[in-house]
Amino acid sequence: MQHPLWKIGEIRHQLSMIDGKTSPDKIIVNATYLHSVLKKWVEGNIWIAKDRIVYAGPNMPAQTTDAEIIDASGQVIVPGYIEPHVHPFQLYHPQTFADYAAQLGTTTFLSDNLILFLLLENEKAFTILDQLNKLPFSFYWWARFDSQTELENEDELFTTKSIGEWLDRPEVLMGGELTAWPRLLAGDDQMLYWLQTAKSKGKKMEAHLPGASDKTLARMRLLGCDGDHEAMTLEEVERRLLHGYAVTLRHSSIRPDLPHLLKEIVDKGLDVFDHLMMTTDGSTPSFHIDGVMDKCIQVALDAGVKPIDAYQMASYNVARYYNMTSLHGFIATGRLASLNFLENERNPVPVSVLSKGEWLKKDGKQVQELPKIDWSVLGELDLTFDLDDGDFQFSMPFGIEMVNDVITKPYSVSVYAGDSSLSSDHDESYLMLVDRDGKWRVNTMIKGFANSVQGFASSYSNTGDIILIGKNHQDMLVAFNEMKKMKGGIVLAEQGEVIAHIPLAIGGGLSNEKVEDLIERELTLKKALSDRGYTHGDAIYTLLFLQSTHLPYVRITQRGIYDVMKKSVLFPSFMRS
Ligand SMILES: [Fe+2]
Repeated sequence: MQHPLWKIGEIRHQLSMIDGKTSPDKIIVNATYLHSVLKKWVEGNIWIAKDRIVYAGPNMPAQTTDAEIIDASGQVIVPGYIEPHVHPFQLYHPQTFADYAAQLGTTTFLSDNLILFLLLENEKAFTILDQLNKLPFSFYWWARFDSQTELENEDELFTTKSIGEWLDRPEVLMGGELTAWPRLLAGDDQMLYWLQTAKSKGKKMEAHLPGASDKTLARMRLLGCDGDHEAMTLEEVERRLLHGYAVTLRHSSIRPDLPHLLKEIVDKGLDVFDHLMMTTDGSTPSFHIDGVMDKCIQVALDAGVKPIDAYQMASYNVARYYNMTSLHGFIATGRLASLNFLENERNPVPVSVLSKGEWLKKDGKQVQELPKIDWSVLGELDLTFDLDDGDFQFSMPFGIEMVNDVITKPYSVSVYAGDSSLSSDHDESYLMLVDRDGKWRVNTMIKGFANSVQGFASSYSNTGDIILIGKNHQDMLVAFNEMKKMKGGIVLAEQGEVIAHIPLAIGGGLSNEKVEDLIERELTLKKALSDRGYTHGDAIYTLLFLQSTHLPYVRITQRGIYDVMKKSVLFPSFMRS
């Protein structure tokens, strides 16, 4: 675990405040705060030195001369919220998402390393982690063991050395999420070795087991998995608890299960709230229009969960599971001063937010933005190739049908795909995945995306390769060219014009805009897509999941069109001249 390791001099200075010789930096007086172990609202005073609570209890310090005195009468104070399962690269990036979340009381993230791992050498990725660690926000990470797609060079990327270097980082708290768990079950001892390495270093192991049977849950538990966040029904929650999994309930843009799960747990009278966590699981920006972990807490309150349990699920329970109650999720002596000041326990949106001892929000107003970090290691997307007529060839006997946002299946193409455009009378469209270096492409058809999206291009994808979808070759080319000109982004084009776009200036996959602005752009794009017949919930996720081989049944990958169940390439990628 990452420990700030206060220097000897700092600790001596903190002790001198208890001894009455020096003054704390901040003193919160008349505080009514949530004590995570007593599970009670406690009254007292909280003394803070820089980023640390040096005392929380009934007394006042003898010296108060240098202190900012904050009178918290009439408010309640809870620990800063922890989001335990963040995919921090959903158009936003860790700093912009953290900046947004912090204003709503979420000041700790436990995040997926996949994008950093895939796009950067470890040494460079760690410079990003180091910069983030300096911000007044707490960033922790996972270490992935698989790419959740079929990469050309998966074996070169995921090695004992590269994964081991991540697991050696103190701020990496978990291995996984383990999307490639079938490989582990099928006997992949290499993966089991990584899992055991993670466990031996004291990290938790997160599974990814949607729809898993009782026996699969038992097997995965024996293999070493500790937690799972894929339960979609009460029965699945109970089955996971039965086998001793740490259960994280999900409220995300594609799986908003939290309201019904909590309601059913309350209705059944299950006394398990001390052992549950909650997550928004990498939702796209617009899902967060009404919050991050504050939104989950509100859902819990609305479902009839007792307020203290609701707050603990978003703070102490996470900290306890990840062995970090000495720093997080607990308002008590020695912990990080990450506190949310609430009007009352029924409203989880804080009026004031203190994170690592710094005010980020005070009396309802943002007082500090998180400092920007340097993303130049990710570079710009500089596509050095053009698409030409030869690339737009889609004569295929079968394509990919979208069953819903995430599930796909193969289907027999029923329309003539040899022309340069398709009718809007049906929902089959051209689909192309192009290597970001222009070396290969995979062309097929997609059914169920939309009736009349003419040209749609995205450099936002699972692997950073380019996705093109549309009814019209010319508009697909316009969208591609605009995306190329912007050095990355998502573009919707029609009759030669750009209808909507989201620039993604960082490496072609991430925006540097504030989440509030990204939400606006995303809503505009989604409206334009739905006006053109996109009927699923989240088009941004569609872009991600087209390549994701942890989902059934057929995917478009760097290696070609891929059958997930048979684990084989149905149609290889085509080398471009
Ligand atoms: Fe996830």
